[in-house]
Amino acid sequence: MNTRVLSIAVLLILVASAFCKVVDLNESNFDAEVAKCDVSLVTFFAPWCGHCKRWHEPYEELSTRFADDNKICAFLVDVTENRELSGRYGIRGIPTIIAFHGDSNTKYEGARTPDAVYDWVTKL
Ligand SMILES: *[C@@H]1O[C@H](CO)[C@@H](O)[C@H](O)[C@H]1NC(C)=O
Repeated sequence: MNTRVLSIAVLLILVASAFCKVVDLNESNFDAEVAKCDVSLVTFFAPWCGHCKRWHEPYEELSTRFADDNKICAFLVDVTENRELSGRYGIRGIPTIIAFHGDSNTKYEGARTPDAVYDWVTKL
């Protein structure tokens, strides 16, 4: 790799790390990670679910709109590996998007687009 390519790569990494990224959670770290953010957006999904796969990229795009300051965080929970969590939050269909804020949590019922979810989550 020449130095020019290298410095572009380093720059891209720096730029990427300034934004929030979607983070996978499981039963051992869910409570601690969700508590770190003012609002935690969680998408419950299953690997075989087509609607979940189609939401993945817009969700990543949405997460880049949040600053990396723990005000709004974006997480994923695989329901097939975290049954206790999906039971706790009464997940019936997937994908299900729930925002955890303070002591409450609110299920998102609107259109699954970055704009719509962004408008909703930033007003909670
Ligand atoms: C949960 O995720 C964390 C971070 O990726 C990992 O270290 C831990 O082993 C996972 N726990 C379980 C039960 O899968």
